[in-house]
Amino acid sequence: MSECVCQGASFTTCDSQARRQWMMATVGVGGALGLTALTPFVSSLMPSERAKAAGAPVEVDIGKLAPGDMMIVEWRGKPVWILNRTPEMLAALKKAEPMLADPASEKQQQPAYATNETRSRRPEMLVAVGICTHLGCSPSTAFTPGDAALGADWPGGFLCPCHGSTFDFAGRVFKNKPAPTNLEVPPHQYLSESRLVIGSDEQDKA
Ligand code: FES
Repeated sequence: MSECVCQGASFTTCDSQARRQWMMATVGVGGALGLTALTPFVSSLMPSERAKAAGAPVEVDIGKLAPGDMMIVEWRGKPVWILNRTPEMLAALKKAEPMLADPASEKQQQPAYATNETRSRRPEMLVAVGICTHLGCSPSTAFTPGDAALGADWPGGFLCPCHGSTFDFAGRVFKNKPAPTNLEVPPHQYLSESRLVIGSDEQDKA
């Protein structure tokens, strides 16, 4: 099984690769199928079964995701970011708040369990769909605070290159940007310290 784990500044390279191949570290729930094994299996299904499998939850091993690292997995054809936030990234969430359009996540872009300060179930772990809520581009990482292109008060986060929307380390959109809402947090749950399932939760609303 191949993986894409991106570290800070080196993410740009990895990101372009990841956009072509979102699918890495994904395993179907209930079976130890990597993508290479999963593809021919899905191809052999009837159309309705294929559609069902394509929408199935994915189980991810996050055991090796170090603080500051981010990985991307595919769920329902969408890239889902998993970012292990450092203490500095978590501190940047507070700094960003006055600049955000919806700092309290009042718009329903996340399950109830992620309607909190970090938009997450575990404070350090961001799980978000990496698709801009404006017109669907894939934002890039812009992790460096004070980035020259984004201004001295930039706390770090993500930049959508298409029309300039910016998001903080919780996927919350900054004010006066084209994107109307924060990024989506998909249904998810942790099976253990190192196993994460995207696409289902205790309510199984996926
Ligand atoms: S698609 Fe992201 S700003 Fe337009």
